[in-house]
Amino acid sequence: PPPRIWVSQPLFDDVVDQLAAHCEVDAVREVTVHPPEAVAAALREADGALVTLNERIGPAELAQAPKLRAVANVGVGYNNLDIAALDAAGVIATNTPDVLTETTADLGFALVMAAARRITESERWLREGQWRQWSFSTMLGADVHGSTLGILGMGRIGQAIARRGHHGFGMKVLYHNRSRLPAGVEQGVGAEYVDLHTLLAQSDHLVLVLPYSQDNHHIIDAAALARMKPTASLVNIARGGLVDELALADALASGRLAAAGLDVYEGEPEVRPELLALRNVVLTPHIGSASLATRRAMVQLAVDNLLAALDLGPDAGRPATPVTAKKTTGAITG
Ligand code: GLV
Ligand code: GLV
Repeated sequence: PPPRIWVSQPLFDDVVDQLAAHCEVDAVREVTVHPPEAVAAALREADGALVTLNERIGPAELAQAPKLRAVANVGVGYNNLDIAALDAAGVIATNTPDVLTETTADLGFALVMAAARRITESERWLREGQWRQWSFSTMLGADVHGSTLGILGMGRIGQAIARRGHHGFGMKVLYHNRSRLPAGVEQGVGAEYVDLHTLLAQSDHLVLVLPYSQDNHHIIDAAALARMKPTASLVNIARGGLVDELALADALASGRLAAAGLDVYEGEPEVRPELLALRNVVLTPHIGSASLATRRAMVQLAVDNLLAALDLGPDAGRPATPVTAKKTTGAITG
């Protein structure tokens, strides 16, 4: 019989339908919150799965999925997958790097600008009817051009943000990363390596773009925030678990930090009331890669990866692109 594929969410039907030429496809047709038992039940007969960051797959799910051979994650971050457990079960895991790099960097830069120039706060104020007369002192913010941009996590997306800052906005770009980039790459993106303390202390705008793992849980905590300039802004487009959100809300409320832009949250889709109550934080609903063209490209890559991993279709024989950093496994947290 043809392999059975579970598709966990509605994606782009015309792209997902490419699987139907080779597989029996069990596609969820409406946006669905799948509790862990439902994921396990859906995987019970599956040879492969196309999943999103909403679906967590670990030992409990795998124990009930004896036929499973491949999981294609539609997204670059894969902390929803327990890679060690998938490896141990002989299941290939793939993600969708590269195709979303520039789109996600655009959103990161949009949040830097929106936080620094108080864009959403200004709009709310205008819509509330508070604008009586043009004034010198309305919504004074921080400059982006010519300031110091800090990047924590210098993968593909971090480099794309660095290029925007350096080449487009004349910024001084500092970064910190587990490993330092080769000198030629640093020069190309115009970024200088510093230790974490220096990055925190010198950045006017600090962007988090590092993959989440238990090792960097709350890497931005009260102590880290205390090292930042009171005029600085913090942007998180990676994973909510990197930031102690209560400490951030405290710092924003007390003026120890000027502004923030968040696309991801520790308990998303729940957003803490302490953040919702603040005016100096820009909040978006995890839309980093959400351009139409990029979302289509992500689904296409995930479909190609799944077919390659199952050795089916036009790509039969090509190696699937397995997740890049198998070391950063860790438990399924989020
Ligand atoms: C989305 O957050 C992704 O990791 O692609
Ligand atoms: C992470 O993998 C990135 O693309 O920056």
